This record gives sequence, structure tokens and C-alpha cells, in this order.
Amino acid sequence: MKYKNRIGILFSVILTLFAASCSLYPQIHESQAQLTPEQLAISTAPAIPLSTNTLRGAAENGPRKNLAIGTAVDIDAFNTDAKYRSLLGQQFNMLVPENVMKMYVTHPNIDTFDYSQGDQLVAFAKAHNMQVGGGALLWTSEVPTWIIQGGYTKSELLGILRDYITNVVGHYKGQVQSWEVVNEPLDTNEHNQPSIWDQVIGPEYIDDAFRWAHKADPQAKLYINDFGVEGSDTKAEQYYDLVQGLVTRGVPIDGVGFEEHLDIALPYSQNQATADMERLAQLGLQVQTTEVDIKIQNSTASLQDNLNQQAQLYASVVHACQAVTACNAVVIWGFTDRYSWIPAFTGHPDQPLIYDDEYRPKPAYNAVKNALLHGA
Ligand code: XIL
Repeated sequence: MKYKNRIGILFSVILTLFAASCSLYPQIHESQAQLTPEQLAISTAPAIPLSTNTLRGAAENGPRKNLAIGTAVDIDAFNTDAKYRSLLGQQFNMLVPENVMKMYVTHPNIDTFDYSQGDQLVAFAKAHNMQVGGGALLWTSEVPTWIIQGGYTKSELLGILRDYITNVVGHYKGQVQSWEVVNEPLDTNEHNQPSIWDQVIGPEYIDDAFRWAHKADPQAKLYINDFGVEGSDTKAEQYYDLVQGLVTRGVPIDGVGFEEHLDIALPYSQNQATADMERLAQLGLQVQTTEVDIKIQNSTASLQDNLNQQAQLYASVVHACQAVTACNAVVIWGFTDRYSWIPAFTGHPDQPLIYDDEYRPKPAYNAVKNALLHGA
């Protein structure tokens, strides 16, 4: 009786499996029948490793395997939008906090440090095998009010700066691989508000900041960063001179960032950007493209033309970095138009990133992926 039962069960399992495979087959068959000849060619092509279907996969399988693809992270989007988080971990192998490791967040009062939001991003990066670029530690903008209004003397401000850098870099020791120590040092007069660091301490604050950061985490790679320095004008020269001075004085700097906030209505030379990066690399430094976004609001062409032109420009930005052996990352300043800082900053609607505001990949997304995977 028992024996017969077992055979019965076995028979019905086989029957079920057979029925299931029969009902599956037509589905596969049907979906193949719907493919266009072009799609069929792709589906029968040798299997591409799945990972190349993401930006990080393309970067890791491309000609410059150690070139990271990063994005700035908006903490509100991160906290409220699951789709945002999922694309972040899937597509990028580096993250940079857009704001939450800036001084006004981490050191909101003279006797308080707040790492709660930065810690969230570091934990996410760890869980998704991403590197973290921290910062900006010092910037003309977004300095906490208690510093601006404190009326501190030079030596008091130096003491505050040393404690701040030691505390923040120490907190993230071993967890943040690179720091933007000084941001936009050439923009000493942002929004008609002179840099308090320059005004009260003088330009030597830069040397000090790097030295304190290095002491707090000798393994972390320390960067300076600025915008509009990928051209051939005086700002690019000033940047080179400033960095060369740091190197000559033995300041512990490892790398130089090029923001590359671009605009399709303005000229951009890939070769010039490469040349500007290469000459800094020749000083023995690493370089990175740190804040790419590309405005379209100033062009009068059709939306489709603008998006195509934007895609080409994104590819040029990646190629400019790929041509420099010492260029180790391309970081985009966000990834979906839904959360870009540009509309608020410029006062105009725009679509400067690589996904649209409904998370559909734009031509720019494919351009970046192809550039990472295939090189120039
Ligand atoms: C911007 C952020 O994107 C905004 O959310 C914030 O309100 C202001 O700062 N150059 C930089 C970045 O170095 O830190 C700036 O980020 C954009 C310009």
C-alpha cells in the first residue's frame, strides 16, 4: 500500500512538471516570435555578463578597470525614495554625500558634531561595496553661522579648524577613502561673501587643513577641488599654480578634482580637459572628475536635440578622464533630474543628469555606459 502510494506521488510530480514545462514553452516561444530581427540578433549573441548592463559593471569591465563611477547623494531622496536607493547601489561603485559631510551639518555648533547622516551613507556604501568620497571639509559657502558670527581671531579660528578636521577625519578613519579637503579655493568671493578662511587666516589655511587631515587618517587620499578649471583661461592656470605650490611645499595632497558643471550651450574641449588633468598628474597627483552635470536650459534647440547633445558631452567628459592614467573617478552630481540642485540654483527648470525625473535612462545614461565600457 505504502509502495503504491509512493509511485502515485512520483507519477503525479512528473505529470505536474511535464504540464508546467508545456505551459512555459508557449510563453517563451511566443515572446521570441515577437522579437524584431534586430532584437533576435541581440538575444542570440554570446551572453554579455549581466553586470555590464549597469554603469558600475561597465566601468569594471571597461578598458580602465580602476576608474570608479560615482554620484553625489541627496540625503532626503535617500531617506524617502526606495527607487533612488536601489539605483544608487546598483549603478554606482562610489558615493559622495551631496551635503551631509559639509561643515554646517557635521559641526552645527561650537561644541557639537553630528555624524548621523554621513554614517547612514557610509553604511550603505559598505553594504553595496562602494567607495566613499567625503567632504567638502572646507568651503567658502555653507560655513556654520556660529563661525561666521563668532568674531574669532586668527589663532582661535586655526584652533577651531584643527579640532574640526581632526574630529571629522578621525571619525571616518578607514571608512572614507578620499576627502575633498578644500573646495573651490579660487572662488574666494562667493555670493559677495568673502571666504572667512581667507579673510581671517589667509591662504595658508589650505596647507594646514591638508596637514591636519593627513595626521587624522594617513591612509585617506586628500583632494583639492574647484570648478571651471578644465579650460584654457586664467582660472585653470591659477589652479595649476596653487596646486604646484602645495606640492613644492610638501603639503600632503594626493589629488585634484575637476568639478565640470557644464552647459551644452557653452564650449567644452575634451582635449583641453585632458591636458589640464594630465599636467597636474605630472606633479605626481591623482585626478578626478568630481561634480558632472550638464545644463540644457540655455539652448534653444528641440528637447531631443538637446538631450542628444548632452549625451555626447557626457561621453566627452568620461573620455577626457579615461585618457589620463591618473584619473581614477568620474562622479556625477546626482543621477536623476528629479533631485538635481540646478533648477533651484539657476532659477530655471533643467534636466542636467542621466536619468529623467521618472527614472528613465536618458541618452546621457547610455553615453556614459558606452564610454565606460568601450573607452574612447
Ligand atoms: C551644492 C549642493 O548640490 C546643493 O544641494 C547645496 O544647496 C549647495 O551645494 N560646487 C560644490 C558642491 O562643490 O558642493 C555644490 O553642491 C555645487 C557646486
